[in-house]
Amino acid sequence: MLKKVKKLLKEVEVFKPKSKKDIENFRLKFLSKKGVITNLFDDFKNIPTESKKDFGKEINNLKKNAQVKFDSFRYSFETKKKNAEFDLSKGIGLDNLGSKHPILLVKNQIISIFDKVGFAVSEGPEIEDDWHNFSALNLAEEHPARDMQDTFFIQNNPDVLLRTHTSSVQVRYMQKNTPPIRTISPGRVYRNEAVSARAHCIFHQIEGLYIDENVSFADLKQILLYFAKEMFGEKTKIRLRPSYFPFTEPSAEVDVSCNICNSKGCNVCKYTGYLEILGCGMVDPNVLKNCNIDHKKYTGYAFGMGIERIAMLKYGIKDLRLFFENDIRFLQQFNSGD
Ligand code: PHE
Repeated sequence: MLKKVKKLLKEVEVFKPKSKKDIENFRLKFLSKKGVITNLFDDFKNIPTESKKDFGKEINNLKKNAQVKFDSFRYSFETKKKNAEFDLSKGIGLDNLGSKHPILLVKNQIISIFDKVGFAVSEGPEIEDDWHNFSALNLAEEHPARDMQDTFFIQNNPDVLLRTHTSSVQVRYMQKNTPPIRTISPGRVYRNEAVSARAHCIFHQIEGLYIDENVSFADLKQILLYFAKEMFGEKTKIRLRPSYFPFTEPSAEVDVSCNICNSKGCNVCKYTGYLEILGCGMVDPNVLKNCNIDHKKYTGYAFGMGIERIAMLKYGIKDLRLFFENDIRFLQQFNSGD
């Protein structure tokens, strides 16, 4: 008897319909009132009491699997109605799975690039306090650089805000861990900016932090070059330009060679041959002090990049708004099959 159930279970497992008729036959055989499962429940009466529990479990399992299988193929061969892909009541066919969002694909790729060289992922809250988002990062209350990141405050409370960068996660990480520290912090961030093709009030960042004895600017350059080559290809070159961030000193902005025109100059790189991808620098000793790390013993570097920016360069996407509109014609292009 149990053998019979197992055989049917196998049949359900391998069932792959070729037509609407196959699906209907499957339904009749397994799920209809006169189907095999109903028969099995009838046979149940004749099973010795001690086996009832096991047998019952198996039939229920078979019933559940048959139903799931049926549901997943139910609409597979329906003739496509107009706008059928927008029918929210449509069953999920296994042949009609969604695709991963490009931001997720790029985020995972960046995480795995840094995972290879020992960076652990850390995460933190999106609603932050002033200290973790600003003060600990060397941005005193009246610091003009606070204007660099237009902040959303919550309920007009200057101490409750939506984080403007994931550097706040690094502060939390430094408070909880002792050097050597090697972490990357991916996450959603918020800035009160007008939405356009190049800016959005919500976007995603990945920031990296490395703190140990004798960490130098050369280490920073090396990790950035490694990242750029892994992300954009072996021939990629990087260029550092001096910049300013309150939490790093010295600071730099990093460009990668334009792989669309091989640095010859095109309208994507605005004929400069290079594209800006991230900000970085050596962690300011004040930040280490604020997080109770011995700034005489340890040095470190930090960098931060926008995931949307990297995804735009990788896939040649010209408008940042596309990432947030969930237009399936856009999203389906990233169907990587996994
Ligand atoms: N937090 C910076 C930003 O959001 C990026 C950054 C991170 C710059 C680390 C330098 C070092 O713009």
